[in-house]
Amino acid sequence: MNDETLQRIQHEYGVENWAAGYFDVNARGHVIARPAAGDARFVDLKELVDDLVQKRKVQTPLILRFPQILTSQIRKLSQAYTQCIEEYGYKGRHFPVFPMKVNPRREVVEEFLRDSARCRVGLECGSKAELYAGLALDQTAESLLICNGFKDEAFIRLAGLGAQAGKQVVVVVEKLNELKMVLRQHQQTGVAPWIGLRAKLYSRGSGKWASSGGEASKFGLTTSEMLQCVRLLKEAKLDGHLKLLHSHIGSQITDIKRVKNAMKEAARVYAKLRQIGANIEYLDIGGGLGVDYDGSKTRTESSMNYTVQEFANDVVYVIRSVCDEEHVPHPHLVTESGRMMTAYHSVCVTSIRDEIETFADDEPEVTVDADDPQVISELKALCDGVNGKNYVEYYHDALEHKDELHTQFNLGLISLEDRAKGEVLFWETCSRALRESESEKFPDEEFERLKQILAAKYLCNFSLFRSAPDSWAIRQLFPIVPLHRLDEPLDDFATFVDVTCDSDGKIDHFVDIKDERETLSLPKWKEGEPYYLGIFLVGAYQDVMGSFHNLFGLPNEAHVVIDEAGQYHITKLVNGSRLSEMLQFARYDQNQLVEAFRKKLLAQAETGRITAEDAARLAGEYDRAANATTYLEG
Ligand SMILES: Cc1ncc(COP(=O)(O)O)c(C=O)c1O
Repeated sequence: MNDETLQRIQHEYGVENWAAGYFDVNARGHVIARPAAGDARFVDLKELVDDLVQKRKVQTPLILRFPQILTSQIRKLSQAYTQCIEEYGYKGRHFPVFPMKVNPRREVVEEFLRDSARCRVGLECGSKAELYAGLALDQTAESLLICNGFKDEAFIRLAGLGAQAGKQVVVVVEKLNELKMVLRQHQQTGVAPWIGLRAKLYSRGSGKWASSGGEASKFGLTTSEMLQCVRLLKEAKLDGHLKLLHSHIGSQITDIKRVKNAMKEAARVYAKLRQIGANIEYLDIGGGLGVDYDGSKTRTESSMNYTVQEFANDVVYVIRSVCDEEHVPHPHLVTESGRMMTAYHSVCVTSIRDEIETFADDEPEVTVDADDPQVISELKALCDGVNGKNYVEYYHDALEHKDELHTQFNLGLISLEDRAKGEVLFWETCSRALRESESEKFPDEEFERLKQILAAKYLCNFSLFRSAPDSWAIRQLFPIVPLHRLDEPLDDFATFVDVTCDSDGKIDHFVDIKDERETLSLPKWKEGEPYYLGIFLVGAYQDVMGSFHNLFGLPNEAHVVIDEAGQYHITKLVNGSRLSEMLQFARYDQNQLVEAFRKKLLAQAETGRITAEDAARLAGEYDRAANATTYLEG
């Protein structure tokens, strides 16, 4: 590929901006993935998908997981803190903790814990189920198990079990009542885990999750509640168990200023608690470290205006400054940056299956006869006459004529054939007007909108609600790139719809360096040829927030590592859901369904509409159909 083509691809998809060195486009016009930024080894994603689809018969939709990217991200985070801790002469150490809510998949959690010996990775859990799993997973002696979220007696008992099993369990008190439960359990069993206090900070984050911080936030103790906790712990002679102060001002903080303000406040609360005798050793700053989904490096909601190193520098510098001023020891720093740790490691691969036409380019040319209704001959005149000077006016006129066409049809004045002719002429006029508008540097907004309407709508084999739900729920941007054919002209523009029966199941907003785009340019889809698209950076929250809308199930999954010689290996293949699993999820008993259907067939046989043999054969076919995958096959 020449430089011009590469520049065009970079301009259209911005891969260099958002890929953090993990993804790129090679000379064949294929997207590649690397195990670490700057690593010479790579896997060609088109070759990988061909291998999966053709040789191993694993169909799209397909989640590709790269465990090595998880390791690279935790190392990047750990190195960022280690570097500034050294540079600023900070006395505490960094304890990265992975919040399981971001991606509770066993393989993801275990991958982080594998690196625990090197950088003390711990876990954060926010529910009994997460804690239950966390308790049995292998952690190193120093690694923390932080319990956030609202707790009941059973949660506290589980935490107590962990403490007895030698784990460094920290119950972070969100409500005063939780501390009372811990104290009661201690009285009954003599067991108490470490205690943390979650402070309700006055500071707020920025972006979508700003309301996680601030005085009115859902979580945390007020100042007077924190003081009460310190008093209650002293009275119970458990003040030695108070080890940690926690705060979290929201996920995906877009503006670094907010981080600095929150750190000043959290450090001050820590210092004041130390000064009244609470010997807290760990300051947990929660999550918030953003991911630059659109690569714009700005304060927009799918981006952030800082780097990982800048975030770490500011955290360490601000906390050190406050502690030195207050003459208290530098606490160990606990971070819960799950989004940053996981977002890059997985890619959802879907394939284009069909095109949903608004206006087909290959409509035959309309001929207008003398006896055609006037509205049609006028539309024809607009269509033939549109040019670079009049296209705005002609477009407006065509809109009026289209309304007129439908009014006349509803009144029974024109035929179905007339309506068809009129519609073709209208869309052809729009298409020509749009072409003229594209030679303008700043086309009117209405032509942006027209572009979206006229864009190809490609039907893709996946469920947005399962694989990228935040695109729908909060309009988060995820980079989308064809995995191949990028050396070809980007001669089409499109939006994408999924296979659910839900009109919200569509992607019509795309990353752009300046703003959002409403269509994506790409090489034109050719019927009958495989065409794969990657939805990138879906490793954080999407797996767990995804739903089984329409009973579309889990996609197939492939885990891929690249060895020292640069050869890729598919280390694990996980089959996607079958109909039977989704039916069970919706509480149907498959045996009962088969039985009920068999009875219906037998009733037909009794009436003589089908034979008894046919009834038996069809019942068997119904039974076997439950083994099909939930997505489009073939
Ligand atoms: C207490 C707590 N810690 C950590 C996180 C994860 O934050 P992030 O999305 O920045 O990884 C969250 C998520 O909101 C949270 O509530």
